[in-house]
Formats: sequence, structure tokens, C-alpha cells
Amino acid sequence: MSVAIKENDKLCDIISKEYHLLQMMTRFGISLGVGEKTIKQVCEEAAVDTNTFLAVANYLKSGEDIVDDYIETVSVKSLIDYLENAHVYFLEFQLPAIRRKLLSAIDCSIDNKVAFLILKFFDEYLAEVRKHMAYENSKTFPYVKDLLKGIKATNYDISVYSRGHDAVEKKLQELKNIIIKYYKAGGDDTPLVSVLFDIFTCEADLHQHETVEDYLFVPAVKLLENKVAVNGAVNSEEEPQNVTKDETLSEREKEIVRCIVNGLTNKEVAEKLFISVNTVLTHRKNIARKLSIHSTAGLTIYAIANGIVNLEDVQI
Ligand SMILES: [Fe+2]
Ligand SMILES: [Fe+2]
Repeated sequence: MSVAIKENDKLCDIISKEYHLLQMMTRFGISLGVGEKTIKQVCEEAAVDTNTFLAVANYLKSGEDIVDDYIETVSVKSLIDYLENAHVYFLEFQLPAIRRKLLSAIDCSIDNKVAFLILKFFDEYLAEVRKHMAYENSKTFPYVKDLLKGIKATNYDISVYSRGHDAVEKKLQELKNIIIKYYKAGGDDTPLVSVLFDIFTCEADLHQHETVEDYLFVPAVKLLENKVAVNGAVNSEEEPQNVTKDETLSEREKEIVRCIVNGLTNKEVAEKLFISVNTVLTHRKNIARKLSIHSTAGLTIYAIANGIVNLEDVQI
């Protein structure tokens, strides 16, 4: 597996190896002129959530294998900003630019039926993409923004979106093939080949956009739905203090101890209690500091001795 992009990597070094991340930067609202700054520094200056930036960057670099490493810490709000900006880019910049180039590259005289059909095909495709993205902008994203405020719609959830989410880039593949197979320029092909390159790039870019929605956005929103179902509001996730005044365990810490004693991993504890893995780790650090106990065996003995778990419930 390739080396993960990390927060202390210099952004300019990463971009020179992974130039397609340039588009990702602009969709996060990060401008060029990043100097020698690290990803963390650049994200903080641009008020972008660093973990979400890393999640998308590593997804684009390595694919869905990395999702489990980041999904707990992704900011759904930052992800929506990113996706909304991508929609603007596709609809207001990239696809219209391809249309303009296509128009000047093909023979638009009235008797060239293939050219006419190619343009018609492209316009129908553009209308489909508009419809797809308008649905996300007007239905899915507002639903998730309400979830972030702790409001859960009763007639919609992210699985409805996920089931109906189709691959919007597929038709571009067809268009490419039509041009390659059937269009005869009758002269210099350079302008048309240039358009084809743009269509290839756009197809790959749209594919990545759609899979970021499938593999990062949908699972992150599912976690959010679970949190809202339990807590009513996202911000109610309790962030533990790094330093606690007394040395007794809080109710939340006792819950964590019960989970650890029962053999749950940090990820499983996070899922069970609807908190992030980072929150679990901070709780564990506080528990270890308070009790001066660092092993699971030691915690088990402590939990039994203090009535936090029953001996018969402990899995040994
Ligand atoms: Fe989208
Ligand atoms: Fe989509």
C-alpha cells in the first residue's frame, strides 16, 4: 500500500507528486501560494478541517482501503463544503468549457449529422449532470445540514440517497467512444483530440467525485444519523477534558472501562458509544493517568474490585 499523506507533509511536495490534488485544494477553498507550509498549517489558515482534507487526499491517492482510518474523524460540514464547491466547478466551469471547445472543434454545418448528434448527446448529458447535482444540492445536503443541527427528517435518510446514487460519469465514456469511432474531422484533428483529453480528465474527475460521495460522505452521514438518533444533536458528543481534577472515574469513563474489559477494540468502543476513536483514546489516556493502570488485565481487576463489572460478565 502507498505511503499515506500526513498532516506534517509539505503541501507543495505532495502536490508535485499528486498533481490531481490541485483540484481538491480549490474545492476546499485553499489558494495557491502555499510556500513551505505543511498541510496542517495550510488547512488551519484556510479554516479547513485537516482530518477531512487528509481523508479526501488519501482516498484520492489510495482508494477505499483508507476509509476506516479516517471516517471517525471526518467533518461532515467540511465534506459538504468540498462537494458543493465541486458541483460549482463541474457545472459552471469544466463542462461548459468542454462544450465550448467541442463546438469549435467539430464541423457545425447543417449537413454534418454526426456533429449535430454529438452536440445533442453532450447537451443531454449536461442536463443529466445538472439534475443529479441539483438533487444533491437541494435535497441531500440540506437534509445533512439539518442533521448537523440535531434535526432528523422523518421521510428521508442517507440510505435513500445511497441507493439512488448513480454513476454520472458513465455517459461521458459513451460520448468519447462515439467521437473516436464515428467522427471524421476531415482535416486537422488536434482541436478534437484536445477536447477528448479534457473529456477523459473530466470523466476521471467526476468518477472520483461520485466515489467520494459513496465511500466517505455516505458512511460519515450514517455515523452522524446514529449520533443524532442517540443524542439529538451532534455537538452533544462529549469531548473529554485532558486534565480532570479528581481521580474518580466519570460515568463515561466507567462505560469505556466496561467495554475494554469485555474485549472491545477502540473502534468497537467508539461505534458502541457513538463517539470518535480519538475521543476513546483520550478517555483511555485519562483513565490510565487517574488509575495508574495501563493494561487490560489490570483494568479488569480494578473494574471487578470496584463493582464496575460483575465477575460473571467478564470475558477472559
Ligand atoms: Fe455530487
Ligand atoms: Fe453524486
